Amino acid sequence: MIIGGSSSQKLAANIAHEMDDVLCPIETRKFPDGERYLRIKGDVEDDVVVVQSTGYPQDENLMELFLILKTLREMDITNIRTVIPYFGYGRQEKSFNKGEAVSARVVCQLIEFAGASSVYSMNLHEQGICDLFNIPAYNLSAMPAIADYVKNNVEDPVIIAPDKGALGFAQEIAQILNCESDYLEKIRLSPEKVETKPKNLDVDGRDAVIIDDIISTGGTIVNACGILTEHHASKIIVGCVHPVLVGDALLKIFSAGADDVVGTNTLKSEVSNVSVASLVADALKMDNNLG
Ligand code: R5P
Repeated sequence: MIIGGSSSQKLAANIAHEMDDVLCPIETRKFPDGERYLRIKGDVEDDVVVVQSTGYPQDENLMELFLILKTLREMDITNIRTVIPYFGYGRQEKSFNKGEAVSARVVCQLIEFAGASSVYSMNLHEQGICDLFNIPAYNLSAMPAIADYVKNNVEDPVIIAPDKGALGFAQEIAQILNCESDYLEKIRLSPEKVETKPKNLDVDGRDAVIIDDIISTGGTIVNACGILTEHHASKIIVGCVHPVLVGDALLKIFSAGADDVVGTNTLKSEVSNVSVASLVADALKMDNNLG
């Protein structure tokens, strides 16, 4: 049985369909003072999958997740696999300055305390988050789904990471599509002058696909679009796993020269046109088979 929290109901329904499983209805709303009401309405049996992204509004979505998990525990459900497609508070997994909250660790502890038996997420910003749990935690990759989109929409692409940190994503897609990949490298020409350009490849006249895990303010992608335009890419397609898209990020990216922007449905957005449902369902089924 699959339960979708309010941030991921459609994705939960898609996962239920992929798994030939039942979607359990829930009622969730806010009281006039802003507090949340939650009721699990189906006859829940053991072995439940809960799907809830914890993106904006992070605190509300997390609170709802805690209410779902704890309520299931109180209904004596012992196996609660918890799919958190976008893991909010996933960026601070260390204390960099004295007194700083290690918010990722706190969130992991609370998810576990609320009742999750295992956790599945997509392209966690920090792989180390899996180690903050004492329950099994899996970091799945959405790149095969994005690669499929690129294959169906771009002929002869060159995959570009906006920085070295994202090169692994670009390489993963390039390997699936059997095409070239590269990253944008900053070179200091003089104390005053920095040039950013593709490290090895010439993008002149080619269809460039920029890949990153997250688009938040859009700054990273705007910069990458500018560089690829300067280097005469004929088309610029932007792909990401998590379209956080703060404020007018999408407009900024299109104004910087992007021809197309696509993200996955780990978060709801205007560009969430690639579904991770079958990747999540496959991981859950594999776990079923392992017993
Ligand atoms: C950075 O480590 C990430 O991979 C993304 O490049 C970053 O989060 C994007 O942020 P923004 O859209 O604000 O530039």
